[in-house]
Parts: sequence; C-alpha cells; structure tokens
Amino acid sequence: MTDLFDPCELNGLKLQNRIALSPVTRTRADMEGRVGELQAIYYAQRASAGLLITEATAVVPEGRGGAFTPGLWDDSHVAPWKEVTDAVHAKGGLIFCQLWHAGRLSHSSLHPERAAPVAPSAMQQEGLVFADGGFKPYDMARALELDEIAGVIANFRSAAERAKAAGFDGVELHGAHSYLIDAFVRDMTNKRTDRYGGSIENRARLMVEILTALVEVWGGERVMVRLAPIGHAYNAWDSNPEPLFTYIVEQLNALGVGWLDLVEGDTGISREAEPSFDLSKLRKLFKGVTVANNMYDRDMALQARADNTADMVAFGRAFIGNPDLVERLKLDAPIVDADRKTYYGGGAKGYIDFPTLAES
Ligand SMILES: Cc1cc2nc3c(=O)[nH]c(=O)nc-3n(C[C@H](O)[C@H](O)[C@H](O)COP(=O)(O)O)c2cc1C
Repeated sequence: MTDLFDPCELNGLKLQNRIALSPVTRTRADMEGRVGELQAIYYAQRASAGLLITEATAVVPEGRGGAFTPGLWDDSHVAPWKEVTDAVHAKGGLIFCQLWHAGRLSHSSLHPERAAPVAPSAMQQEGLVFADGGFKPYDMARALELDEIAGVIANFRSAAERAKAAGFDGVELHGAHSYLIDAFVRDMTNKRTDRYGGSIENRARLMVEILTALVEVWGGERVMVRLAPIGHAYNAWDSNPEPLFTYIVEQLNALGVGWLDLVEGDTGISREAEPSFDLSKLRKLFKGVTVANNMYDRDMALQARADNTADMVAFGRAFIGNPDLVERLKLDAPIVDADRKTYYGGGAKGYIDFPTLAES
C-alpha cells in the first residue's frame, strides 16, 4: 500500500501522483534560447508525472550555463514555451519552469557583448563549458557591482512574468549547484564585504530578494526553490551548511514559499557528502511541500512515502529513457537506461524516441 501513485492536492494544485520530473538540461533549444516542437513533444510524453519541472531556463542570455539551453529573457520566448505548456496540459499534466542564472558557470561567448560572466566574487571555475563553438575553458568571472544586483532581481521578476504568460503552473528558482544564487549563498564562492556577503543573512539576501519577487508575481503556492545543501556540484562548498540552510528555510517559511525541492547529497553522484547534516531537519522545519531528489529508485521512493520523509519524489535520469516512468514504477516494470551520449545536444534521437511500455 502506497500513496505514491495516487492523485493528490498539494498547495491547491491537483496532481496525478507524487512523482516529479526533476529539472534536466537537454540542450536542444536554439542559440537564441528558443524552444520548439521537440520540447513540446518531449515534455508532453512525460506528462503523466504529478509535476514536471523544466530544464534550467535562463533569465538573461549570460545566465545560460551552456549553448542551446533555453531562456525566458525575451518576449519572443513566450509563445514557444506556451506550445510546451499547452501540450502538457492537454495530457493532464502540470509544469513548473526552472528559472536560472548560471553566474560564473556561463561563458562570454553566450553573452551578447562577449562580456565576462558575473559572480558574487571574481573567480574562475576549472574545467570546460559547452560554449558557442564547442567546449572552452571557463572565463574569469567578475564580481557583480552592488548597484547591478537590483537588475538581477528584476531579470528574475520579468522571467517569472513571462513564465506566467507562457502558461506555466509555477516557477522553480534554481538555488543549487553553484550557479549564481547558490554561489552567493556559500562562503567559498562569496567573498563580498557589502550587504550581500559575510554573514549568513547577507549571503542569503539575494535568494530571499529574488524569491520575494517571484512570490509577488506568482503567489507563494506556485513558487518552488531548489536547494542542494550538502551538494558539491561545480565545487559548491560551504564550511557550515546546517545553520546556513536552516536560516534559508526559515526565510522560505516567512515568505510563504510553497515548495522545496531538496537535492539530497551530491547530485547524481552520491547521497552522502561532507560536511553533512541531517537534511530531514529541513524537511520538518519547512511549512510547505517537499520534493526529494537524488538517486532515488522505486523502493526508495516507496519508502520515502511510507516514512513520510517527502511529499513527492523527483526522478531525473530515469525519466530520460522512460517517458512513462510513472507507469513503469507502478508496475515494477524494467527501467531503460538512456545512452549518456544523447543526454545533451542533438535532436530527436535520444530525446523523444523512447517507447512507452505499451509501445515496446
Ligand atoms: C543530463 C542532466 C541534466 C541536468 N540538468 C539539471 C538542470 O537543468 N537543473 C537542475 O537543477 N538539475 C539538473 N540536473 C540534476 C537532476 O535534476 C537531478 O538532480 C540528478 O540527475 C539526480 O537525480 P536522479 O538520480 O533521479 O537522476 C541534471 C542532471 C542530468 C543527468
């Protein structure tokens, strides 16, 4: 007996079940950040999930963490996304848009004026980024000036308004994986000495101010935030994550943010990470709906509901090769492992060509 597959009402939304599509970048938009028919098909194929969360969608061109990632920085992005949301709604699904600013993890070739990426503090990420023209070393990012920060918040607000016009059911702030917002939050990437750096309260300020704007546009019941408190994706690091993320969750409660998408451990790598703390404390503290993610399988998802450690469970990679993942989990049917080579880039192959159980 489980309620994982049962319809439910959460924050006033009627969900088909408690399984979510975790945000998964697939880099099949055009170089202007526009989605199209491919994405409409892809998301509609997965609409039997209780809730779909889109791939990271940039609020400014220089917020893209790679070429061919989508955006919502321009009014011309609205109509193509509307085709996606219409296709999902026609299948009875619900879809939130993950709003993204990649910060130092972007690349100058994706910036309209080829300017350096921005960050809380000047810093250069090691490794390569999928830039315009192929993989390139990360640029040295420059620190945002204090008087530029209001503009970043305004960019998120405008993108949230466009998400509304595009027919989404809500928005998720990407507050994880060392992208701009997470980089502000953590003490290894934020060395500022103004009111956006130093104390926990200061480091969390940008996230809180952006969420305030999102709640003003959408109402708290339609706003989600993704956090990876003990994750180290792209070298994310904080010396003392427990008080930091406890403070952030207290702020979410104060703002009335309705949903918390919690990545448990290191995204896609491990459920354990150091420095660690008991993430269930955050779940208990948070007043809204929690979505748990990271390396869940069927048994773990059933257990999460049996123990009520999360209201929903989000699957990322398993949804790539299994558009009907919910049905497969329900029947305990085989889960197809998609070819990692088709995770990013390309076209229909490895994207919309996975058969459902019935078709196969
Ligand atoms: C190809 C790929 C792209 C991803 N893109 C995003 C993204 O755009 N935003 C995000 O928050 N997480 C992203 N993630 C992380 C996933 O949402 C998820 O946290 C991770 O895959 C672990 O969940 P899983 O074990 O169910 O796959 C991505 C993961 C993969 C494999």
